Amino acid sequence: PETGCLSIVVLGASGDLAKKKTFPALFNLYRQRFLTSNDVHIFGYARTKISDDQLRNRIRGYLTGSKETEVSDFLQLIKYVSGSYDTEEGFRLLDKEISEHEISKKSVEGSSRRLFYFALPPSVYPSVCRMIKRCCMNKSDLGGWTRIVVEKPFGKDLDSAEELSSQIGELFDESQIYRIDHYLGKELVQNLLVLRFANRFFLPLWNRDNIDNVQIVFREDFGTEGRGGYFDEYGIIRDIIQNHLLQVLCLVAMEKPVSLKPEYIRDEKVKVLQSVLPINDEEVVLGQYDGYRDDPTVPEHSNTPTFATVVLRIHNERWEGVPFILKAGKALNSRKAEIRVQFKDVPGDIFKCQKQGRNEFVIRLQPLEAIYMKLTVSNSDISIMIAIPEVPFIFSVEDIACNVKQPGLEMSTVQSELDLSYGQRYQNVTIPEAYERLILDTIRGDQQHFVRRDELKAAWEIFTPLLHRIDNGEMKTLPYKPGSRGPAEADELLAKAGYVQTHGY
Ligand code: BG6
Repeated sequence: PETGCLSIVVLGASGDLAKKKTFPALFNLYRQRFLTSNDVHIFGYARTKISDDQLRNRIRGYLTGSKETEVSDFLQLIKYVSGSYDTEEGFRLLDKEISEHEISKKSVEGSSRRLFYFALPPSVYPSVCRMIKRCCMNKSDLGGWTRIVVEKPFGKDLDSAEELSSQIGELFDESQIYRIDHYLGKELVQNLLVLRFANRFFLPLWNRDNIDNVQIVFREDFGTEGRGGYFDEYGIIRDIIQNHLLQVLCLVAMEKPVSLKPEYIRDEKVKVLQSVLPINDEEVVLGQYDGYRDDPTVPEHSNTPTFATVVLRIHNERWEGVPFILKAGKALNSRKAEIRVQFKDVPGDIFKCQKQGRNEFVIRLQPLEAIYMKLTVSNSDISIMIAIPEVPFIFSVEDIACNVKQPGLEMSTVQSELDLSYGQRYQNVTIPEAYERLILDTIRGDQQHFVRRDELKAAWEIFTPLLHRIDNGEMKTLPYKPGSRGPAEADELLAKAGYVQTHGY
């Protein structure tokens, strides 16, 4: 049952992730009345010996955009328990606190629900799981549940990830484990299945006959500031590509699931991952920005990539021959995450606009969420308003779309966009933070946007051989200037894979 007294435990409560992401997400759920003081209590747990008020004061500064009284009311819901991650003492105390809360809420109808959010380094996951299992499971006779939410990195390669999965799997059932990948909580990532499967436009086009290449790109315009120690152990492929970008790839490439049942969706994602061919070293470009090694926590001779472009090839009927180019980098020229689906040239082009005029369908995940389509129309200085009011969902916004004809006797074309910019279209709507949605999903018991164990395994299978070659120093990492597009070789690889630079945004 999904009602009754709810206890949310944030483990690692005094750390960065908890302060910056977990507590603010809980606060936003509270503000929107998804969590109410009627039935919810929040517990922070960490090693640091601080009081309830000290924890509240640490969090306060991160709870923005609301009235002071609302912030204070929320903070009053938080209690702090300190203890270690590998002994029973602290967890027994935590259990006592949770039980007291549950007893005080006996009047709330339903059973007891216990959610443990791991804002912790993965090295302590196994011991924390053991402690929860021994000391803190929900024991209500009315039923209810105990769930755990874990964050990446889930291991460093296939073997370490499998070991971690087995250790956790011995203690908790898969239905209790929520592996969070916060990209799955982003508005436009959640939109992908709707876009693809609820719009007739795309159904016949979404395949190798029409699509030339797909790019999934993540850029940040800042480096690894303050996280060099962590980052150097993992690198950009483990930090971004193997998880966030690969999850997006699954949603772009998967077949239509039988229904929206989470297991059916995850089944289809696994099939895509299992169809990815081994990565060819010729289709990989790695980079490291100048100045990365100045960070005192980064080893002097580090070869860790802060940038990578990797081409994946999916061996199935829909995608054979279509490169999926995954690109991610730190300290680049902009902050952006987007999916670019580039269509093939029009056969027998009579306008001579081939290539410059390629159609591209772009989903900008952030910032300024938008979905737009690059079209070819006749070249014109006059703005042409294209309004398609009857088409649901995507093209309800009017804009100009073009490779267009020049007015007069000349016939020439230009390229422009048919555009749904969320900021323009949904002016009074706040797009929820990824973590907000995902935490709500865990409370509701919806695992659709979480990574299943076999998905994780398949994702590591794709990248582990390449990662080992990088770790062994067998792959070259090229230098690039901070604030640039990354190594020039990455653009050459893109062109080789078939991507044609188009005009416009
Ligand atoms: C995290 C990575 O998972 O995602 C960070 O560890 C990265 O290195 C972050 O900065 C990016 O998330 P977002 O939501 O800002 O794109």
